[in-house]
Amino acid sequence: MVALEYRDPELRGTDLAVIGAAGKTGTAVVAALEGQASVRRVVHTARRTDDRAVDLETGAGLSEALSGCRGVYFIAPNVHPDEPALLRRVLAAAVEEGVDHVVYHSVAWPYSPGMPHHLDKAGCEDMLHTFGGVRWTVLQPCAYAENFAAVLEGSVRTLEVPYDPDARFSFVALADVAAAAARVLGEGADVHHGATYELGGPELLSVRQLCRRARRSVMVSQVSVADWMERHGRGLTGDARARLAAMFDFYDRHGFVAGSAQLHALLGRPPARIGESAAVK
Ligand SMILES: NC(=O)c1ccc[n+]([C@@H]2O[C@H](COP(=O)([O-])OP(=O)(O)OC[C@H]3O[C@@H](n4cnc5c(N)ncnc54)[C@H](OP(=O)(O)O)[C@@H]3O)[C@@H](O)[C@H]2O)c1
Repeated sequence: MVALEYRDPELRGTDLAVIGAAGKTGTAVVAALEGQASVRRVVHTARRTDDRAVDLETGAGLSEALSGCRGVYFIAPNVHPDEPALLRRVLAAAVEEGVDHVVYHSVAWPYSPGMPHHLDKAGCEDMLHTFGGVRWTVLQPCAYAENFAAVLEGSVRTLEVPYDPDARFSFVALADVAAAAARVLGEGADVHHGATYELGGPELLSVRQLCRRARRSVMVSQVSVADWMERHGRGLTGDARARLAAMFDFYDRHGFVAGSAQLHALLGRPPARIGESAAVK
């Protein structure tokens, strides 16, 4: 199928949909979109009367949720065993419903064979490029500072990580990622079709350095992946544990860094420095 480059503006829907709207990322994206346009919260478990419930595992509810939408922001569940299958269902429904623009929430360094859930996102990016019938944009955030919200808020005194606490990351404020997402979705495909934006924070920080910026002092230590899984991974499937273990091993050896220039451009200001008041809610 040949990509439909210019959908007649008269025939475009008007609403914007956020798939994964109730999750950590989706909540921030919906908040950033407030006041911009009519926004649909597309969720798995409806909590509000206007929520659109879908099942990404089967595609149930997707067409109804996307009907009349101009743009769709797709956030997949964390470390899903088959993210490309979910995206394929979203794209099929988007094309069927005449959606003009799909924005895919990927990750920095998607082509990382050492991290299977990143590799799945690389496959998703390729699917987006080649599916046809809908225009697209990719956002590639680095690790969110909010993964350490309890540390930065001062509500914990100790932190155990299953990788080198001195490994470096380009931690990015989730509110900045969400503001960039809202701009891309709001301005739409006429401005952003075909673009891939890497969204890193403004400096390299280790988890130990991040802990030094907490409101109360925090002792950080490294534990084995097995010990971490024993304490924090009991509710996870075997596949999710394996994907997380691969990610921790990768972080231990390479850290996780990404540039901030594209985020700066999308925000029209420097991205938040982590540990400053704007960085963490
Ligand atoms: N954390 C980071 O630093 C980071 C950085 C870059 C990229 N990412 C990516 O961001 C994405 C989202 O992460 P997150 O932590 O925000 O996720 P999350 O809080 O776990 O939210 C995921 C959402 O997926 C929904 N969901 C689960 N199963 C579903 C199904 N069968 N059908 C429809 N919806 C379903 C859930 O909806 P309900 O709540 O309604 O059940 C949930 O709210 C992941 O793909 C991750 O790789 C994360």
